[in-house]
Parts: sequence; structure tokens; C-alpha cells
Amino acid sequence: MNPTKTLVDVQDLTMRFGGLTALDRLDMTIREGEVLGLLGPNGSGKTTFFNVLTGLYKASEGAILYNGHDVIGKRPQEIYRSGVARTFQRSRLSLPLTVFDNIVIGDYQHMHHGLVFNLFRRKAFRAEYDAYVQKVRELLGIFSPPLVDRMFEPVETFTMIDRRRIEVCRALLSRPRLLLLDEPSAGMTHDETHALMGDILDVRSKLGNLTVVLIEHEMNVIERITDRCVVLNYGKKIAEGTYAHITSDPAVQTAYLGEETT
Ligand SMILES: Nc1ncnc2c1ncn2[C@@H]1O[C@H](COP(=O)(O)OP(=O)(O)O)[C@@H](O)[C@H]1O
Ligand SMILES: [Mg+2]
Repeated sequence: MNPTKTLVDVQDLTMRFGGLTALDRLDMTIREGEVLGLLGPNGSGKTTFFNVLTGLYKASEGAILYNGHDVIGKRPQEIYRSGVARTFQRSRLSLPLTVFDNIVIGDYQHMHHGLVFNLFRRKAFRAEYDAYVQKVRELLGIFSPPLVDRMFEPVETFTMIDRRRIEVCRALLSRPRLLLLDEPSAGMTHDETHALMGDILDVRSKLGNLTVVLIEHEMNVIERITDRCVVLNYGKKIAEGTYAHITSDPAVQTAYLGEETT
């Protein structure tokens, strides 16, 4: 891991939806190994940035060099396979399914065998299934040990914070190099948020080389866990730097004040 190395280099990135410019000539970098906070009022383009970086949307202009290669125009699976994983702002868990099923669903692109193969080659399928059970058990053991013994229980029986942990585990299953977290604390209490962030810092130190971009509204969380921050407003970058630096920036204060009065 090299903290001065640029892992993602965003150049002049613009994303338009009809007449609306959600990202407006954005330039920013994500450094290898850092926890970067992505801030900005509602509608400032944070989720759109994740959607473009993960290949869900194709940018109107500009480039995103990930590890030196432009991701624009690549398919989401391709980007995922190259080491970029994410969680979504709104929960994407299937509540009646088990923890195991929900975690493995995220990795289906990595499964080797199609349906026909699975019907005719049951042994091979069984071996692959067992390997996934092992993989999920190992990951839960690292990220959230109390969940290991409950991995075949339906997600609907879990608390909000455990559901978020399951979503983070799903993103981690592919052992990504870059993890994008879109408001993971949404709907959780202050204490739960702190516990979840502690888990994320912890897993980062255990898994080693993991770069994290975190969209988060709670400022004390941002202060506690980020190395650097980028602040967006109307799709433009208005500030970049340490938490102390960006919070003392008048442009940032004005952007957030504007949100409070709306
Ligand atoms: N698929 C879409 N179609 C049209 N407009 C969109 C779409 N996705 C996002 N937007 C618009 O882009 C702007 C930025 O949205 P978003 O990235 O979700 O903001 P944030 O995550 O910072 O709250 C908003 O005005 C939003 O309405
Ligand atoms: Mg959003």
C-alpha cells in the first residue's frame, strides 16, 4: 500500500440527465489506502458519482482513471471484477432470504457455472457451494463474528445495524480494492452509527490494502474516520482537504446553510 499513490483520478467528469447537470466538470483523486469522505447537500451528485464510477451510468464527458485505466464505457461487472465494490443508499437486501444468500448474491458474477452445468454436474456445484459457505463464514468471522452462527437465518430477523453489516459484508466478499459506502448509517441511531464505523475501520486494518470512499452526513463520523474529504455542491467540487480544512471553508458553510433553510 502506498498512501501517496493515486488509485482513482477523476478528470473533468460531467454527468447530465436531460437538462440537469448532476456532475459538473468534476476533478478529484482518491488515494490508495485512504478513507475519503464525500460530502455535500442532498442532490449535490454524490450518489451519481458512485453510479458513474461503478458503471451504472455512462458519463457525458470526462474520464475516471482507476488504477490507470478509464472505467467510462465499461460494464458494471467488469468494474466490479477489477476490484470496485459498493453499498447502496437504500437497502438492497432480500428480507426473506438468509444472510448467506444475500451475501453471495453480490458475487454471482464470479460464479463459474451456469444453470445447465449445475443441473448436470451436481458434484462440482456442491463443491462451489461449499467453497462459498467457507468464504462467507470467514468474512463474517472477520467483520462481524456474532453473525457467523446465524448465517442461515433470514435477514428479516436482524436489527438495522446487523442488516447494514450484512450489506457491507456483501460488498467485501469480492475482496475489493476500493469500497464505496453510500450513507451506510442512514436510519441508524447515533450509537449504532459509531459501532458500524468502528467495524469498518477494524475490517480495513484486518484486510489490509482497502481504500474507502464514504458518503455520510454525520459530521462527527466524518471527523473521526476520514483522512480527507471532498465536498460537492450542484455537482461541482467546492472544497477538498482534511476535515478541519473543509469545515473552516466559507464556501462549505454556505452550501450547508443553504440546505438547512430549504
Ligand atoms: N437517474 C437519474 N435521472 C435523472 N436525474 C437524476 C438521476 N440520478 C440523479 N439525478 C439527479 O441528479 C442530482 C444529483 O443526485 P444524487 O447524485 O442522487 O445526489 P446526492 O447523492 O448527492 O444526494 C439530483 O438533482 C438528482 O435528482
Ligand atoms: Mg445520494
